[in-house]
Amino acid sequence: MNNTMQPLSGDRSQYLTIALTKGRLADQTMALLEKAGYYCEELGNKKSRKLIFTNEEQKLRFFLSKGPDVPTYVEYGAADIGVTGSDIIIEENRRVYEVLDMEFGRCTMCVAGPESARELLQHHERIRVASKYPNIARDYFYNRKHQTVDIIKLNGSVELGPIVELADVIVDIVETGSTLKANRLKVLEEVCPISARMIVNQVSMTMKAQRIREVISRVREVVNSEKQENQQ
Ligand code: PRP
Repeated sequence: MNNTMQPLSGDRSQYLTIALTKGRLADQTMALLEKAGYYCEELGNKKSRKLIFTNEEQKLRFFLSKGPDVPTYVEYGAADIGVTGSDIIIEENRRVYEVLDMEFGRCTMCVAGPESARELLQHHERIRVASKYPNIARDYFYNRKHQTVDIIKLNGSVELGPIVELADVIVDIVETGSTLKANRLKVLEEVCPISARMIVNQVSMTMKAQRIREVISRVREVVNSEKQENQQ
C-alpha cells in the first residue's frame, strides 16, 4: 500500500460515510441533511467529476453512486448510511436496516400500458411484462395477483416496451405521469407508493450507534417539521 494512504479500517472508524444516489435525489438529500446541520461544501461543485467528498470538521464522507448500488455499499459496510428510493431498496433486497422515510422523491410503482392491455390484466392472461424492477414485478404478479407472466428485464426507457411490442405492459415508477402520457400509455394498476429512505449498515448500527442515532433523530426532526409546515 502507498504509505501516504491511510488503512481503510482507520478511515472507516473515524468517519461516518454516507452513500448518496446520483442526481436529483442527492440534491434533495443534501438539502435535508443541511437543515439537520450536516454539510459538505465540496458536493456543491456540479462541474467536479469527483465521486467522494469529505467534511473534515464533522468527520463525514459522502459519495455519489447509481441508485441500485447504494444498498450494496451499505450492506458491505463501504457506507454506514445510504439514501435511495424504496423502489430500489425493495428490488435489491439487501441486508440493511431501513430506518427513516425521508418523505421526498414520492412516486408510485405502477403497472402501465395501452388501454387495450387492461383486459389482459383482468383475465389473468399470460402476458409479457417489461421492467427495470424484475423482482418487484414478479412479486406483484405471482404473489399478489396469482397471475403467471413472463418478465423481461430492461435498464431504462421502459415505456418503449409496449410501443415496440416487446411487452404488453410495464412495471415502473410514475411521478408526474408525463412520460406515460407522451407515449400514450396509462396507469392500469398501482403496486405501491415509493419515497426516499435512509438505510444503515447492520454492523455500523452497533459500532457507531451514538453518531448514527443522532443523524437519524436530527433528520427525522427536519422531516417531521417540514411535514407539519406542508399540512398547514
Ligand atoms: C423514470 C421512470 C419513468 C419516468 C417517470 O425514468 O422510469 O420513465 O421517470 O416519471 P414521470 O411520471 O414524471 O414522467 P428515469 O427518468 O429515471 O429514466 P429511465 O427511464 O432511463 O430509467
